[in-house]
Amino acid sequence: MTLTDTWKDAYPVVKMSTLKLLTDKGGNSVYANCVDGHYFPPFTLDVEYATHLENIQKMHIRDDDVTVVGYAKSGTHWVWEVAGMLLAGSTNYIRDIKESQFLEVKEVAALDALTSPRLLNTHMGFRFLPSEIVTKRTKVIYLLRNPKDVAVSLYHHVTGMNPGEKFVYNGTWDDFLDAYLQGNVWFGSWFDSVLAWEKTVTALTELPVLTVHYEAMKADPLSNVQRLSEFLGVQRDSEFCQEVVEACSFKKLKQAKDNVKGNNLRNAWKPGTEGFYRKGEVGDWKNWFTVAQNERFNALYAEKMKNSKLTILFK
Ligand code: A3P
Repeated sequence: MTLTDTWKDAYPVVKMSTLKLLTDKGGNSVYANCVDGHYFPPFTLDVEYATHLENIQKMHIRDDDVTVVGYAKSGTHWVWEVAGMLLAGSTNYIRDIKESQFLEVKEVAALDALTSPRLLNTHMGFRFLPSEIVTKRTKVIYLLRNPKDVAVSLYHHVTGMNPGEKFVYNGTWDDFLDAYLQGNVWFGSWFDSVLAWEKTVTALTELPVLTVHYEAMKADPLSNVQRLSEFLGVQRDSEFCQEVVEACSFKKLKQAKDNVKGNNLRNAWKPGTEGFYRKGEVGDWKNWFTVAQNERFNALYAEKMKNSKLTILFK
């Protein structure tokens, strides 16, 4: 079976979306665009959301496009900026924000207008990605993060946002965690997302994919930046890679977001919240999970991931 056959069999084009209320066990709701059983934030675009996704699936991919993919809150902003500096050979921050190349919200015309090399990025499941990524075998950077820290980070994200009524969610941490474990949140179940990814990559062995673990980046940023440099085929020297590590530290990136970048989406967040750059640490989940919540999580993880060979760096 060829790459194209595998793609066509597994990933039909989507047809329609509905605006759905996701309601947690405490009765708190948040809207989601629901497409073929998959939940996305309730973005409003000029085109109907499923049409947008269909356009994205069919968009033209350039040979030098790189796509950063990961479940939400896995460190996308960080790795996107690192990869951008490596590609550019400069530690100047990318003037635009990551969201300028975010497949969930950028329409194809805007993506087509970007200069190469593009650094597309998404939290969508693999089935929604542009199919030419597969047929042209362009590079994909896949991000994985401890799903307990992802849960905490996503909770702060959904309760911190303020861009309009449809995005407001006021549940407690316990309400949210329950919804997260059931996949009743934007981007759906973390388990389903990473398992679908694993299945795809196992089938599409010719697709160039580099997996980056958030915890490994934190523990040894230099060697991970060097891995990225090699994968991207730019072979930056270790002195440059070290400069990238420093420029992309949590503190510096947070400052750059506010001081350097245009349209920093500050209005998307409630006053007093940290936005996309909250804490940037490994193991914050220990400050949030109760013993009972942790036991519930571990039992579900053991069951859902029993056949998976994915490595998750729990700390
Ligand atoms: P926390 O909420 O745990 O702090 P994404 O970019 O995929 O939305 O992921 C956001 C998470 O990555 C947030 O996690 C954010 O603080 C963290 N992050 C962003 N930049 C970082 C950096 N330079 N170093 C470490 N973590 C970073």
